[in-house]
Amino acid sequence: MNPLSGKRIVLGLTGGIACYKSAELLRRLMDLGATVDVVMTASASEFITPLTFQALSGRPVFTDLWDSRPDNNMAHINLTRSADLIVVAPATANFMTKLAHGSADDLLSTLCLARAIPLMIAPAMNKEMWQARPTQRNANQLRDDGVILVGPASGIQACGETGDGRMVEPNDLLAAIVSHFEPKIMAGLNVLITAGPTCEPIDPVRVLTNRSSGKTGYAIAQAAAQAGARVTLVSGPTSLPCPVDVTRIDVQTALQMHECVMSMVAGYDIFIAVAAVADWRIDNPSSEKLKKNDGLSPPDLSFVLNPDILAGVAAMPNAPWCVGFAAETTLNPDEVERKRQRKGVPLLIGNLAQEVMDVDHTTVELYSASGRQVLERGSKQWVARQIVAEIAKRFTQQ
Ligand code: CTP
Repeated sequence: MNPLSGKRIVLGLTGGIACYKSAELLRRLMDLGATVDVVMTASASEFITPLTFQALSGRPVFTDLWDSRPDNNMAHINLTRSADLIVVAPATANFMTKLAHGSADDLLSTLCLARAIPLMIAPAMNKEMWQARPTQRNANQLRDDGVILVGPASGIQACGETGDGRMVEPNDLLAAIVSHFEPKIMAGLNVLITAGPTCEPIDPVRVLTNRSSGKTGYAIAQAAAQAGARVTLVSGPTSLPCPVDVTRIDVQTALQMHECVMSMVAGYDIFIAVAAVADWRIDNPSSEKLKKNDGLSPPDLSFVLNPDILAGVAAMPNAPWCVGFAAETTLNPDEVERKRQRKGVPLLIGNLAQEVMDVDHTTVELYSASGRQVLERGSKQWVARQIVAEIAKRFTQQ
């Protein structure tokens, strides 16, 4: 199930170099099931052609207030009447001025003024233009008017300067759009999540780790944030970007993850342990790189058990509502249920290790006192949204 299926979005472009990012955004919106009508200002058409967006969307692109194709010849009314959201990306400083003052001198500004649906904008401009007092006044006015501002981001700008003003990346804008439509079933909840692998040092250059990519935990963090939760993600090393609106704390070892979780878990409503925590660490990691020497005698490593973070949190007085994961090579329902009881958690989510490591699509089973439930197979994002919906439902029913 795509998060944007059935949604109609008007994607407006104004004249900035970041227009190229909106071509990618359009594709990603369509991938998630949205129907997108593109409206471009004359300046936007200087940066990228309407033909590009027509080819990508497979739909006509609108640039002219006097376009006679829509019913009643009223593009500025008809384009938004069956739409759910207008997204203007990039939004220039000049366009923000027009929006803030209710100016309507072209198709995009006119349809924004004549809208009865939410408006989201992604500002994009030079850092001095963004910091300028008129722009900041306009940004505040637009927020007061209920316009959703996403970004701008910080970094190197097309003009060569560095600072705030870049348009946010298409992925981040997409997350904000999905978030906008997601029911806020976790509003007001504080959720702590562990994700990724842990790395246990053998010596300064070698570690013991596992094949967890962190994707499932990150997808759950993203889905929980989109459902309105305040989310903290304690993450082992991964190459994934931090999900939008999520606070990430990076750790390396199981002991660090344990210490971090234990020091902050009080005050959280829900704890979701997705991390593939190493069960053992090396008892005697070498402070010097181990040498092969004669190559005949392998290093003498001894192991010590790591603390069980999930079981430790679940056993706390006033523990948050705990959810665990069990990635097994064979899913035996009786064994998974026994693991749930051993960990002392109300919900344990089982999946097949071969169906979760190194893949983007997965399937999971929920184990609780009320029995076993299989969720619909799909992308990790879709499965994460189903998991978050189940957690929210079960948390409120407890
Ligand atoms: N977990 C944890 N701390 C550990 C080990 C595991 O918090 N030291 C959590 C995982 O994040 C997961 C759950 O416990 O949510 C189950 O992990 P798993 O490795 O399947 O459990 P183990 O107790 O290690 O059982 P097994 O003997 O099957 O490895």
